[in-house]
Amino acid sequence: MAKTIEQIEKDALKELEAATDSDAVRALSVKYLGRKGLVTQYLRNISNLPQEMRPEAGKTANQTKNNLDAVFAKASKQFASISYLEDSYIDVSLPGRSIHQGSLHPITQITQQICDIFIRLGFDVAEGPEVETDYYNFEALNIPKNHPARDMQDTFYISEEIVLRTHTSPTQPRIMEKQQPPVRIISPGKVYRCDSDLTHTPMFHQVEGLLVDKQVSFGDLKGVLTTFVHQMFDEETSLRFRPSFFPFTEPSAEVDIRCVICKGDGCRVCSKTGWLEVLGSGMVHPAVFENVGYDTTQYTGYAFGMGVERIAMLKFGIDDIRKFFENDLRFLRQF
Ligand code: PHE
Repeated sequence: MAKTIEQIEKDALKELEAATDSDAVRALSVKYLGRKGLVTQYLRNISNLPQEMRPEAGKTANQTKNNLDAVFAKASKQFASISYLEDSYIDVSLPGRSIHQGSLHPITQITQQICDIFIRLGFDVAEGPEVETDYYNFEALNIPKNHPARDMQDTFYISEEIVLRTHTSPTQPRIMEKQQPPVRIISPGKVYRCDSDLTHTPMFHQVEGLLVDKQVSFGDLKGVLTTFVHQMFDEETSLRFRPSFFPFTEPSAEVDIRCVICKGDGCRVCSKTGWLEVLGSGMVHPAVFENVGYDTTQYTGYAFGMGVERIAMLKFGIDDIRKFFENDLRFLRQF
């Protein structure tokens, strides 16, 4: 026999020391313990030894085989866990991926700004349903059955008696039915009209205002709206009250502000007039008070309603209302 079993084991351990990965360990395992491996061959040759040497030689060779088996297994396990660590290595010096922080939709931001101004003036927030009855959307607001505002063109009818509210004004009779004066509320929310172009979407947002008390005058309305415009835009923004008509206010006025784009010189946004219409308003019509059971000899009040998109477009300089509802992140991330 060329080599002693001790020599074979020594060689094996020496070679193992030089191994650098689990492939090398596997090769050594084959070289020594495989079917034609050195230890296997040694074991096979034991039968050629003289009878009296066989038991001792067999015992040592088997011990060597088991020992190498264990040593190889341990080594290959170690290499495996090293390569796992290498594969899942995290480079802590890499710059982190930035997380996109969400933000409030521009319409939500403007709605909150509008509400905050009126809350500071002492108004409470009250909301009403978007699916509304014909009664609150029209009848209670002194809009009779044949009024043009009820035309199928503008109103989304759910049924004969149920509509998607066309304005936030139905909150007025809803609140007044439940509460005696003084009333001082603002009511933000979604409204619906069958209309769609550059400046109209089938759904948009309004903020309604209502104040009822003893001796409320048109002067109070003018004061509160002037304060609002100055806080929403700036102190320099002048406003004008233009006679108008709403069935639920008398007298009624539409409020224009000096064009925030051209400052009154005349531009595309204000159609060269220098003025922009921002809201509708007026003194609550006595017929509305009668519908909710208020004493018209004691109380007067004013109401106003404004389009949030309109104000947002002016504040942010946006000329297409549909941008607010396309949910294009490149647009929304600017706010
Ligand atoms: N509801 C009216 C509209 O949608 C606005 C308005 C509200 C006018 C309150 C007067 C008083 O145009």
